[in-house]
Amino acid sequence: MWSAVLVLAVCGLPASLQQSSLGVPSVGPAAAAPSPAVLPGTLPDGFCKCNQTYNPVCGADGQTYGNACIMACENVPLASAGVCPACNRIASACDCGNQAYNPVCGDGLTFSTPCDARCNSHPCFTQGVCQYNPSGGSTPASGNSCSGGVTSAAQNSAFPSQSGARFNYGQALHLTGFFFDSMISGTNLTTQRLAWRGRSCFNCRGAYGEDLSGGYYESGGSMLKIAVPQAFTVTQLAWGATSFNGGFTKTGELSTVLGTIRHGAEYIDASFPSPTVMLASVGNDTDDFSYYGPPEEYHQYIPNRLFCYVNAQNPGAEIPGEGAAALAAASVALRGSDPSYASYLYGRAQSMYTFATSYQASYANNTQPCIKVHSSLYPSNGFVDELAWAAAWLYSASNSTASNYLSDARKYYAQAVSQQGNGYSYENGVKVPGLHVLLAKLDSANAAQYNANAKTFFNQYLTQSIPHTTKGLAYPYHWGAIRPATGAAFLMLEHYTTIRTSDAAFAGQIFNYAEYQIDYLLGACGRSLVSGFGSGYPTYVWHKYSYNAYIDWPLRGQSSFYGNVRGPWTTPTTGPDGPIYVQTSKFDLEGSRLPQRFLPYGYLYASVLQDDSIPVGRKDYTYTEQTTDGQTSFVNALAALAGYYSNNQTASNDCGLDLGWTHPNATIIQGVSVNNTAICAAGAPAPSG
Ligand SMILES: *[C@@H]1O[C@H](CO)[C@@H](O)[C@H](O)[C@H]1NC(C)=O
Ligand SMILES: *[C@@H]1O[C@H](CO)[C@@H](O)[C@H](O)[C@H]1NC(C)=O
Ligand SMILES: *[C@@H]1O[C@H](CO)[C@@H](O)[C@H](O)[C@H]1NC(C)=O
Ligand SMILES: *[C@@H]1O[C@H](CO)[C@@H](O)[C@H](O)[C@H]1NC(C)=O
Ligand SMILES: *[C@@H]1O[C@H](CO)[C@@H](O)[C@H](O)[C@H]1NC(C)=O
Ligand SMILES: *[C@@H]1O[C@H](CO)[C@@H](O)[C@H](O)[C@H]1NC(C)=O
Ligand SMILES: *[C@@H]1O[C@H](CO)[C@@H](O)[C@H](O)[C@H]1NC(C)=O
Ligand SMILES: *[C@@H]1O[C@H](CO)[C@@H](O)[C@H](O)[C@H]1NC(C)=O
Repeated sequence: MWSAVLVLAVCGLPASLQQSSLGVPSVGPAAAAPSPAVLPGTLPDGFCKCNQTYNPVCGADGQTYGNACIMACENVPLASAGVCPACNRIASACDCGNQAYNPVCGDGLTFSTPCDARCNSHPCFTQGVCQYNPSGGSTPASGNSCSGGVTSAAQNSAFPSQSGARFNYGQALHLTGFFFDSMISGTNLTTQRLAWRGRSCFNCRGAYGEDLSGGYYESGGSMLKIAVPQAFTVTQLAWGATSFNGGFTKTGELSTVLGTIRHGAEYIDASFPSPTVMLASVGNDTDDFSYYGPPEEYHQYIPNRLFCYVNAQNPGAEIPGEGAAALAAASVALRGSDPSYASYLYGRAQSMYTFATSYQASYANNTQPCIKVHSSLYPSNGFVDELAWAAAWLYSASNSTASNYLSDARKYYAQAVSQQGNGYSYENGVKVPGLHVLLAKLDSANAAQYNANAKTFFNQYLTQSIPHTTKGLAYPYHWGAIRPATGAAFLMLEHYTTIRTSDAAFAGQIFNYAEYQIDYLLGACGRSLVSGFGSGYPTYVWHKYSYNAYIDWPLRGQSSFYGNVRGPWTTPTTGPDGPIYVQTSKFDLEGSRLPQRFLPYGYLYASVLQDDSIPVGRKDYTYTEQTTDGQTSFVNALAALAGYYSNNQTASNDCGLDLGWTHPNATIIQGVSVNNTAICAAGAPAPSG
């Protein structure tokens, strides 16, 4: 899941609540913790086996554990005996702004600041990052000085030699394609590259009879489908496939990304059953977050999915707005390969835009209970940026100033800039920075203002008024920090071509800064953060899909090791195995140090600590969980760099990758056409790192 803490303009908490939660530390000093050298109860296979004696202890992560063995199994030091002190829960998201990094740990999650923890409904916390092993440390990044550091990259206006690539961006790009394969939803899939992902969403017919089985799930930890990030994924990839067509083409990745765009576009199309009704979400987060099995079996445990819609009575203009942007952008991207489908999507985008502009209200102000699934996980800072975004993409797809799209884009852009400001991060709910860059390209008559605004946004990164890690990753906030870092990098790699003659020195600076961010993620600073690429990448991540797969889920249906202990995992769930099944698999996912059972190629880690280390463990999803839309800026940036460089950017294939086909349970799902072993056998060269 992703809780975008930054997008609301003001903290929504009543002052009294903020005040009262301020001085309530949940636990005693963590120094009381014993530091056993060997974790009690940990079996050689990484599983924990604890008895069911209820003798509660409070961990340094602010969670109560049924007994000390269970706590130790999750690698959490002891804070005090007994249950953790009670602490009032606050169910409201809010924004703490760009505050100085002052991490705290609450409920096993790290937050950048105390305000951040409270705003995310975790008012009980201890000072410092969460500590997951007995010695309280985390694995430091090994490695070098990252070739001069981010400051010199940001000051360097000289473009690098085009034959000077230090990484095979094309190979990384190839791997990222598997991430979308891992997140795919659908009962009718026609290709299958990963042996561990098959068909799913068998109970996904919506309230209007529409087939909502397609699209992509939301994040590594959830099988929800959420409208704005879903559509933003398509808009982003379509933008990249159009702007960096050369990079995708020369690395052989164009058909993959167009396939991803199309699968997403089909779902967005299906989720618009009538001119004033559009799907907001599929699934109930309460149930969903308690599910630890594979998507292929979800319907057995959660038989009834929740479908939530915006309509004329309960609008949310962001949803048809982002949908219109996505289908218009997809129309541009798919025009070359399928002109009639592109033209169909353009028409659908126009209808969504009409819905969005006719009912101008935010889903944040929609009162239906079900809309909370969307609004609490992906809050909104208002809808005018989505309207500007939709109008701009429709203008781009229409090739014409005859329509009102360009004038609408200018109008809503002005409103968005004045109402929402620049922000400090480009992401699914915050499009103003993207609008500067997109409109600078599309509306050259007004380029000066867009360029000036883009420069202001980028300068926050170049001058490091936005915090950075020790080794130079942009770090405006810690929860999923790689999203803003890659968001800025992608926009810079898109924008430098627009200003290359008008502002040549700045163009070079943003290119070099952006490459620094991407190279950091590929391993330039000591560790790759991309699964399967280079070395040192984290092997346990908050990605349920590659851990508990339908072809290999050892704990399926197993009874609990430890009974009905107190803790957040006692949330009841529906289905034949009920809470016992939840507890066992939850405990295993959070506590075990087993690597993912299947390597999730291309999975971009979500965040590092400010000292560039990574947490020991999978449990703290603020670091370990990537979202589907959160990966898209990285994909686009890789395509841009693969296109820029002439060396090392070779086309890749699946030969040499372990996609699970040697697993004894692997079977190709019926009607599907891809078999990677066959591709390899045909004599294709092995991919290079
Ligand atoms: C259960 O485990 C706890 C913690 O390891 C231990 O203190 C206790 O003696 C055990 N109880 C039984 C009945 O084995
Ligand atoms: C899946 O296949 C069925 C039957 O072939 C078809 O009716 C349905 O529209 C398809 N769904 C999607 C999402 O393509
Ligand atoms: C989501 O599920 C929870 C737990 O099953 C339930 O209490 C809640 O009412 C559901 N939400 C909606 C909007 O149906
Ligand atoms: C919700 O409605 C209030 C009152 O009209 C308005 O001030 C606020 O900006 C709205 N919220 C959003 C996100 O549009
Ligand atoms: C825009 O131009 C392209 C290329 O000429 C054409 O294929 C496409 O249909 C046009 N789009 C619209 C919406 O007219
Ligand atoms: C698949 O294989 C694993 C290990 O080889 C085995 O434990 C498991 O029971 C098998 N079946 C399923 C459906 O996971
Ligand atoms: C990249 O290219 C350079 C020079 O063309 C070469 O020396 C280097 O080995 C290549 N690196 C990779 C990873 O292919
Ligand atoms: C894939 O193709 C190879 C080579 O043609 C074949 O040996 C293998 O059985 C196929 N795998 C599956 C799962 O069908």
